[in-house]
Amino acid sequence: MSQVLILPGDHIGQEIVPQAVRVLEAVNQHFDLGIELRHGLLGGTAYEQTGDPCPAETLQLARASDAILLGAVGGPEWDKLDRPLRPEQGLLRIRKELQLFANLRPAIMYPQLAHASSLKPEFVSGLDILIVRELVGGIYFGQPRGFRELENGEREGFNTYKYSESEIRRIGRVAFEAAQRRGKRLCSVDKANVLEATMLWREVMNELAPQYPDVELSHMYVDNAAMQLVMRPKQFDVIVTGNMFGDILSDIGSMLTGSIGMLPSASLDKNNAGMYEPCHGSAPDISGQDKANPLATILSVAMMLRYSLNAPAAAGLIEKAVGEVLDSGLRTGDIFNPGEQLVGTQAMGDAVLAALQRLLSA
Ligand code: IPM
Ligand code: MG
Repeated sequence: MSQVLILPGDHIGQEIVPQAVRVLEAVNQHFDLGIELRHGLLGGTAYEQTGDPCPAETLQLARASDAILLGAVGGPEWDKLDRPLRPEQGLLRIRKELQLFANLRPAIMYPQLAHASSLKPEFVSGLDILIVRELVGGIYFGQPRGFRELENGEREGFNTYKYSESEIRRIGRVAFEAAQRRGKRLCSVDKANVLEATMLWREVMNELAPQYPDVELSHMYVDNAAMQLVMRPKQFDVIVTGNMFGDILSDIGSMLTGSIGMLPSASLDKNNAGMYEPCHGSAPDISGQDKANPLATILSVAMMLRYSLNAPAAAGLIEKAVGEVLDSGLRTGDIFNPGEQLVGTQAMGDAVLAALQRLLSA
């Protein structure tokens, strides 16, 4: 018996998560996986109903779960709230409380979408990068932080960028191991020419390397890495980096593939329990209009089945079903090109489910 917690979150999260849940339920039934679903609140929706973007009840349910499926959080209506009450803080808190330190963000080019990228097809066709982002440390969590008044009466905002050796080592291990299972090349991204925290980052990565003799480790400064990602993206296999650089580079990585609407992610703790979410945000501009692409969330379910629920066969069939739907020419607005068939969130979910049912009964 496995427990999966469903957190739709805000805006399009409320539309895409139900589509992914239908897919999860279909494989659960077919493979008799014994998955039990619970539902909870996170983000602005949670704030509206409980006054807290990460309610104690959600944390309690999350701790008792083997995996969590999250939609997305945030929206302009909550931007004026005090920082601890904002939806994004709810997300950061659940990551921190559950110690989901390893964020895996694949950037995979679907051959059917090669023309959807803003880069020329020859630069991105066959692209398959994995960005491993440290998720519960670095400048997003470092203390002290805040606002203060200087002696001259001026206001100052400040944050602390720090990483301890053990924090670097544990994310480094995840990245080296991921590289071992893939193309055996790991690029560690830092700003070791300026920031002490990342000088240590580089040192610790170098110290780990001899334990993974089959993996070729390289280093890159983050500014160069951003440039290389758009210039020659296929040089990368696995990238490992800290919280802030990973946040930024993973958005670049996702856009290389044409649409951020296609990319799933996993945030894992040391036992591979984890939270699965699309890489994209809550897209308030299209929320409630049946326009959002549910595929990243559906593919997040596949990642969940593979990493946390030990059901790789079910994961593979979901990915195959998504591929078949793309082959058939169905597209949501974010990946649409003339000549293809434009569909909404619900119709895309229907199509994946139908393809999956066909595969399951074949
Ligand atoms: C992400 C998002 C979050 C982050 C925000 C919503 C707090 O941008 O998951 O990449 O910065 O981690
Ligand atoms: Mg981000």
